[in-house]
Amino acid sequence: MKVAIGCDHAGIALKKEILPVLKELSVEWKDFGTNSEESVDYPDFGEKVSELVSKGEADRGILICGTGIGMSIVANKFPGVRASLCSEVYSAKMSRLHNDANLLILPGRIIDQETAKEVVRTWFSTPFEGGRHQRRLDKIKAIEERLKCQ
Ligand code: RB5
Repeated sequence: MKVAIGCDHAGIALKKEILPVLKELSVEWKDFGTNSEESVDYPDFGEKVSELVSKGEADRGILICGTGIGMSIVANKFPGVRASLCSEVYSAKMSRLHNDANLLILPGRIIDQETAKEVVRTWFSTPFEGGRHQRRLDKIKAIEERLKCQ
């Protein structure tokens, strides 16, 4: 699995913490920055990772900013991206089981490192349940198609 990862300056510390977890899970990743503490604009990094997931050039993505809110707003604008902001393990699990989330957003200034690592492990190891949840995802796809025609 190829994973694209990105963050802004508020997410960089947590990004460094979770990269070893991706290694532990044998997940292949590519880092799209930022890689310094200098203040940057989260849409620049959110756009890159979200576009790769939207186009199928990355199987999944991870984005980190201070609250996770800015990155969530950016990511969910991209067709086919189902971004889930998770600050605890239950949401990480449900976002995979019910929403087939393909982009994990972490709030770098809110979540503690150990919880974040457990969120990442859970998010990557939980399958999509399908069934009635697939019907709901099909409805989201239909909304995307309708908006494309406007
Ligand atoms: C950066 O200060 C902060 O606004 C950003 O990381 C994020 O929390 C935005 O939603």
